[in-house]
Amino acid sequence: MSPKPARSQSGIERVMSIEVARVTELAAVAAARLRGRGLEKKSDGAAVDAMRRELGVLSIDGTVVIGEGEMDEAPMLFIGEKVGNKSGPKVDVAVDPLEGTTLCAKNMPGAIATLAMAAEGTLLHAPDIYMDKIGIGPGYPKDIVDLDAPAEENILNLAKAKGVKPDAITAMILDRPRHADLIAAVRKAGAAVSLITDGDVAGVIHTADPEKTGVDIYLGIGGAPEGVLAAAALKCIGGQMQTRLIVDTDEKRERIAKMGIKDPRKKYEIDDMVSGDCLFAATGVTDGRLLKGVHFGKGVIETETVVMRSASGTVRWIRAEHHKLDKFA
Ligand code: FBP
Repeated sequence: MSPKPARSQSGIERVMSIEVARVTELAAVAAARLRGRGLEKKSDGAAVDAMRRELGVLSIDGTVVIGEGEMDEAPMLFIGEKVGNKSGPKVDVAVDPLEGTTLCAKNMPGAIATLAMAAEGTLLHAPDIYMDKIGIGPGYPKDIVDLDAPAEENILNLAKAKGVKPDAITAMILDRPRHADLIAAVRKAGAAVSLITDGDVAGVIHTADPEKTGVDIYLGIGGAPEGVLAAAALKCIGGQMQTRLIVDTDEKRERIAKMGIKDPRKKYEIDDMVSGDCLFAATGVTDGRLLKGVHFGKGVIETETVVMRSASGTVRWIRAEHHKLDKFA
């Protein structure tokens, strides 16, 4: 009998698969306690605090490469901050402890707590500026959509590859005035548009399972940090994504140069944003199409988390009941 193919037993992402779920769970619960209170900053702060505390006990020698901002503007989880107990491997950590602060403040669907982790030097250090994004799920030939192609062309090519008419395609787009032309072009091509008010990390992830989410393609401009987190998720599931930073002022040009980005017009593919194997985790804060939000029961807190690992292509959905509540205090 031939031996079973060896499975990778090492790699931070394998060891950390469950640990990272704990980190996003704690951040999600902290934020969820303040759902619907109109307190964007406070709920974000609570999530940041909780995520930082839990990251601190992980056996990693981590550096935040996507965080709450640059050192002078964010007291915690700032870019460059060291996290973990330093006893493990050197890793890059990208965090968004509360993705969709407004969604949480208004108790609207889709707020999540999320992070990605990968070996040191493998995650793009993206500045907190805008980024143009296009993303589709797995199962399509490479390059059937292109960031630089007109929206109509992308819709037609995607429909052809899916074997449907354009009217069976749905594009998810952030509801912003800057997207008026894009929305019109997608509709002109015959496709439907599903608008979201916030939360484009989850937005991009929707494309991974069109049967379940009804979303085939993600289009439009959002935060660059969120772009890298979404790229990490798609790397695990096998989708395609292209992005480009929007560098429209000298101040931004200087900032990105400081971060080591040489070409401001570079079109990033997933492997440019996440160049090695990675781990991605997200826990729902408010109920959403992707994840259920935190449920506070009598003596129990329930959370739903997705953890993905690119090396194995594993996507784990973790529905957790937390009966000992002191860790959330
Ligand atoms: P926050 O959680 O930081 O508020 O980000 C929410 C978000 O909707 C992101 O998902 C998205 O990338 C970005 O804001 C879009 O920025 P803007 O609201 O300026 O259009």
